[in-house]
Amino acid sequence: MIIKSMLYLCAGAIFAQTATLAATGPENRPQAVVTCESQVKMPAGSQAPGDQYVFFGANPKPGKKTNDNPDTNLVKLKDFSVTAPCEGGNHLIPADPANPDCGKVVAPGGALLRTGILFSNEGVNRTCQDLATFRITNPAVTSFSVWVLDDTLKRSGNWNSGIAIRVNGGDPLAVHGTVQADSCNEFTKFTVTGASISDVFAVTLLTDSKHAFRTLAGLTFAVIPDPAMAGKSFPSIYHKGWIDLNKNGVMDIYEDPSQPVEARVEDLLKQMTLEEKLGQLNQLVRFGDQGKHDVDFFPKMRRGEVSSYIWMGTSPALRNQFQRIAVQESPRGIPIVFGMDIIHGASTLFPIALGLSCSFEPELLERAQTVAAREARAEGIDWVFAPMCDLARDPRWGRVAETCGEDPYLSSLCNAAQVRGFQGTNPAAPDRVAACLKHYVGYSAVTGGRDKNDTEISEWTLRNAHLPPFHAGINAGALTIMSAFNAIDGIPSTANRHVLTEILRDEWKFPGFVVSDWEAVAQMINWGYAKDKADASRLAINAGNDMDMKSEGYVRYLAAEIKAGRVSLATVDEAVRRVLRVKFQIGLFDRPYVNERGFQPAQMHPEDLALARQCVAKSTVLLKNTGVLPLSKEIKKVALIGPVGDDPVEIQGCWSGRSGWGTTLAKGIKDKLAKDATLTVVKGCDISSEPRTKTLQDGSAVIDDGVAAVSADVQFDEAVRAARDAEVVVMAVGEPRGWTGEGGSRMFLSLGGQQQALFDAVAATGKPVVTIVFSGRPLSLPTVWEKSAAVLYAWQPGIQAGPGLADLLMGDVSPSGRLSMSVLRDVGQAPNYYNYLRTGLPGFSYRDHITSGDAQYWFGYGLTYTTFQYGPVRIIPAADGKPAEAVVTLANTGKRAGDEVVQLYIGQLVCHEGARPRQELRGFKHVKLQPGEKADVRFPLTSEVLGYIDHKGNPRVDAGEYEIWIAPSAHKGTPARFNFAP
Ligand code: BGC
Repeated sequence: MIIKSMLYLCAGAIFAQTATLAATGPENRPQAVVTCESQVKMPAGSQAPGDQYVFFGANPKPGKKTNDNPDTNLVKLKDFSVTAPCEGGNHLIPADPANPDCGKVVAPGGALLRTGILFSNEGVNRTCQDLATFRITNPAVTSFSVWVLDDTLKRSGNWNSGIAIRVNGGDPLAVHGTVQADSCNEFTKFTVTGASISDVFAVTLLTDSKHAFRTLAGLTFAVIPDPAMAGKSFPSIYHKGWIDLNKNGVMDIYEDPSQPVEARVEDLLKQMTLEEKLGQLNQLVRFGDQGKHDVDFFPKMRRGEVSSYIWMGTSPALRNQFQRIAVQESPRGIPIVFGMDIIHGASTLFPIALGLSCSFEPELLERAQTVAAREARAEGIDWVFAPMCDLARDPRWGRVAETCGEDPYLSSLCNAAQVRGFQGTNPAAPDRVAACLKHYVGYSAVTGGRDKNDTEISEWTLRNAHLPPFHAGINAGALTIMSAFNAIDGIPSTANRHVLTEILRDEWKFPGFVVSDWEAVAQMINWGYAKDKADASRLAINAGNDMDMKSEGYVRYLAAEIKAGRVSLATVDEAVRRVLRVKFQIGLFDRPYVNERGFQPAQMHPEDLALARQCVAKSTVLLKNTGVLPLSKEIKKVALIGPVGDDPVEIQGCWSGRSGWGTTLAKGIKDKLAKDATLTVVKGCDISSEPRTKTLQDGSAVIDDGVAAVSADVQFDEAVRAARDAEVVVMAVGEPRGWTGEGGSRMFLSLGGQQQALFDAVAATGKPVVTIVFSGRPLSLPTVWEKSAAVLYAWQPGIQAGPGLADLLMGDVSPSGRLSMSVLRDVGQAPNYYNYLRTGLPGFSYRDHITSGDAQYWFGYGLTYTTFQYGPVRIIPAADGKPAEAVVTLANTGKRAGDEVVQLYIGQLVCHEGARPRQELRGFKHVKLQPGEKADVRFPLTSEVLGYIDHKGNPRVDAGEYEIWIAPSAHKGTPARFNFAP
């Protein structure tokens, strides 16, 4: 401790000494010492010198429940940062209102930290749980005291409990039995000496319970530095306009923000050791798990071995603390890039990408991701693993939820728009992030829709279906790309030189870096493609995979591979260059920290919520309407039935770890109904309660064999009563969000649990049923389509589900969404996308079903509250240097204004390069028409519109005959013939 305080307090060659210390390994540092005094009376009103204290408030984000840090309440003053990790169902609750005086106690130093924690130990035999974690932010402070008032700690069982301090996830120190004192002035005082900036301290709750339990801990605590040290300053590497990252006292080229990025990269690269270079290719994962691995991370960070974290926390203060270690304590001070899956919003959760793409409005995705970028960066996320550019061709695959649908053209536009939304024109701006296109490439073609399965993709399909959405993202400026889990031609994407180097670098000239997917380097051993991690690491880096996510293969084995001549230093240098380039481009070297107070102000602005609401309405697809929608404003009795009707969680979607609850459909409808109208809400059954039903071909629901009888929580009778009593029934049904997204593949495309039976019972009442389907994929629900009076497909709409859907139900907004993924008749059709290749004997279908191979609703389909009529497609030949045009006259034949998404499809009749799809979307326009109004809608027929990518990757267009459709959806309308002569 003495050595360390001297280190920090001496001026001069401090950083050289720090580096020496780091090299010997902090594992060798003496452990901080903790002592404890109990029942300490606080001297009222005393102040610590320099106002050095932290203050921790108690109000979580409204409705927040699981795994959330109460970072919004963190007020960090000078020397400490505090977070409250909430593992295993801790719930933050406001300070005990029954005991308001406690909220006014002033600890010595004026610090008061007051939180209420509903501590729930779900596991068995656990002995301690960290209630709050804190770290020193001022290295000059090495000793401090922690005052803990546990007066509201209530044990709800027959066991002993106590509080203690844990250092770096170790055993609880200075354990003190809980006091449950009446007096608000009696604290337990822990004194800590020998502390370091790299230590993680926690106030921890102990129990000797061997069983799951819940207890309410109202914790008030203060952290106060040793008065002798508080306010002392640390010799700074931070200069006006630059940071002395390598601590040599001069501004190097790489530290000079005015230098060009390439010059900075080269200057830094030549200063780095091989170990530091390999460190830049290493990404670790920090779970929001009380920092129990932090003690392992810190030494690695000090040695410069951590380039990036997948950062699951939401605390900017904690993120800065990690960054400080990299910047201040590692030899070259290279900042860490913090990455995370921000897929359909950070705090403001928008509809899933599959939903948003149904808007056929790429700018809407751009706007949504602009909000996500601001919220994410404010939390300390610099890099998002989005957009997902995979094609949604098989609804069994759970990850279709994250995609922009089955069509390469629409997906390309939506992905490029998302990149613009994330990165803006300057990804270094404090409200922008780096985007990461994923998963490169072909992951969605998994056989049988089973996640992480094998894939068979021809070069032809790769070039014309799977690659274009990535290429569009790269052309939009995406800074990074993630290689996929699947294999192409038997070679895992992580080590596939053809896609990673020949296509990505040689053809597309991509300058950014490639990160592997989660442990995908190591997974090549499971593929039987690599012998061990060293082999896998060699294969991956040589193929062009720059960063290793989580396997820790590069950092451990590549030095030996270089020595053995199996990997060249030039290859490693190039990979490091790419990583550093992006770090410079996003401004990390000049602005490594985020504003710790910027978190709350950046989240959920009213205009963001308004945008999210608009997105809900624009993503929802009206599949059927017999005229019941929009509901009359005069309606007096509505029944809302189904498990999603009043559920704030299911609506959120598959990636939703960071948000508060959403506004439910029940609330949305209630807010819109007339004052004298009633809304009866009946859940009916759980969304996924056992036994699961399965839907047979005729649409009837049967109980899955071999599972228990119907569970007791079904309320069919109540649902039926409510339906009978209502003028109209809104059914809110779907699949659990946990059955979607990663690992969310399904065998059936049915409703979860007993919802089909619930639907059947309600539909049998004969009341008009408006069904709203909540799901991450297109489900196949024949009886729902048949028996509902109207169907709205809402996907997973996010936190504004209620208001956005109510806007549609009540007709304040007309539906304009169009399917970005076809709805199949039955799972047996899967995969079945509209743009299948022409075949020799078209029209062959199934023996056991009378219908054709047609989907129930093809891509592009969607109704609105008016009707449109399409005239015949006319071709205007090319003239005066202008390309030929396809034109259609569109008329609004209904009684309301409406927004029609007019779609252009092309089909090449003869192509010697290979069979092309029968139809391909190559343009669309939103046309708004008043009742009775008509308009000509035109599309140019250029080479880009008609062309394809040949086997070598070149864009190409052939002279010859094409079919041209201008239609309301795929496989609709009569094509015109067009002879193209370039
Ligand atoms: C997923 C990626 C994700 C990554 C990091 C992987 O398992 O496939 O989509 O970005 O984890 O969370």
